[in-house]
Amino acid sequence: MLDFVTDKVHDENRQGEAFAPFSSDPNQFRKLFYIESYGCAMNFADSEIVASILHNEGFGATKIVEEADLIFINTCSIREKAEQTVRKRLTEFKKLKKKKKGMLVGVLGCMAERLKAKLLEEEKLVDLVVGPDAYRSLPALVDEAEGGQKAVNVLLSRDETYADISPVRLNSNGVSAFVSIMRGCNNMCSFCVVPFTRGRERSRSADSIIAECTTLFENGYREVTLLGQNVDSYYFLDEKNDITVTFAMLLERVALISPLLRVRFSTSHPKDITDEVLHTIAKYDNICNYIHLPVQSGSSRILQLMNRTYTREWYMGKVDRIKQIIPDCGISADIITGFCTEEEQDHQDTLSIMEYAKYDYSYMFFYSERPGTLAQKRYTDDVPLEVKKRRLQEVVDLQNRLSLESNKKDIGKAFKILIEGESKKSESDWMGRSSNGKVFVFPKEQYSLKKGDYAVVQANDCTQGTLLGKIVEL
Ligand code: 5AD
Ligand code: SF4
Repeated sequence: MLDFVTDKVHDENRQGEAFAPFSSDPNQFRKLFYIESYGCAMNFADSEIVASILHNEGFGATKIVEEADLIFINTCSIREKAEQTVRKRLTEFKKLKKKKKGMLVGVLGCMAERLKAKLLEEEKLVDLVVGPDAYRSLPALVDEAEGGQKAVNVLLSRDETYADISPVRLNSNGVSAFVSIMRGCNNMCSFCVVPFTRGRERSRSADSIIAECTTLFENGYREVTLLGQNVDSYYFLDEKNDITVTFAMLLERVALISPLLRVRFSTSHPKDITDEVLHTIAKYDNICNYIHLPVQSGSSRILQLMNRTYTREWYMGKVDRIKQIIPDCGISADIITGFCTEEEQDHQDTLSIMEYAKYDYSYMFFYSERPGTLAQKRYTDDVPLEVKKRRLQEVVDLQNRLSLESNKKDIGKAFKILIEGESKKSESDWMGRSSNGKVFVFPKEQYSLKKGDYAVVQANDCTQGTLLGKIVEL
């Protein structure tokens, strides 16, 4: 998924960040909560749903953990390391809890779902354990926990989409927002814990998605990223109009809200992305020319063991098709090194498929066996850790080169950039993104532009991660 964080190269910016307070007057709230999110964009979006549910019950958010009555940590189980990070953070909360009587700590999300009540035994300080489909019950669970009981709800649902809940935008730049369009996953990739932690796939009503995106636009947002584990299998039966809304149709409806609203989406499964989706992207200027298309491995044998249901050649054909229909499309991938039985030749196949696809960006991981997954039950995790890590390093090195080459190719070209904010390094520069996902930094100059505006910028230099440019047109 977009936003996946590699164990090595990763977007540290959003990890664990706490939310901004809703009000400068903490006394207006019944209780103050603090929430940290780990893992994928989906988890960040879920934390905004949690904040909304709590807010409606009179709770307020705080950015200052020490002043919170409730601490929530929205967790990820995808790799062992993600869980270790959470456990470390919990030991830090222990100290705070000792200092502040009555403070409650809740574990939300995938780790809550995976470990259930066991988490209460393992982590003595935890008072609440709440899975991804049980957030509506949070206020009641908080009451229970305040009464001195340990509160657990990890029931998964077949139809919960939180469609009617308007997420509270927290920690947002006011320009881009995540919009969750579906939950769960029906694919059974053998390495992946997600089907067990997030349950069956279900799509949110198209009308509620359009309504949320429209409100965002009216509130000044200029970019939405439609989120799902597998967005291409979005499927909603609109009984009122007697139509089935597919992902391509949904994309089109969101794009039609306004030409000034950019639309992104993540994640696509190569097996499910259709020509119809590709043509829709090509048809609308405001649907970004960028596809996150996880390959996982370049070896057909490994892909079969991973249960990805495509071969190396089939994936390459998909890349060809994307480039044929959307010639300047940015492509990124997720890649795993050292999956069970992976040989040197399989690894070489991964490197060569990266060269073939010329990824602009990749999220790269070494395989981490997860309890309960098909791979854990069926195969032996037999690639030594040093080998997994060495192969990962080779993948990272290659990606660095590919990213640099891709950026160099863009020097001299002009791109329409959506300004997301000031550059972190200099107040006199803007930071923004092109449709194909590249990060641009450029001087503000004399123009009176602001966040959320568009500018045409010509690239004149680059690093591996950023293009540097100059405004050539407003
Ligand atoms: N080990 C390593 N990486 C994994 N991913 C999913 N499960 C595992 C695992 N057990 C990676 C995949 C997926 C991304 C979200 O995380 O590349 O696409
Ligand atoms: Fe997101 Fe859960 Fe998967 Fe982590 S395990 S990446 S939080 S869905």
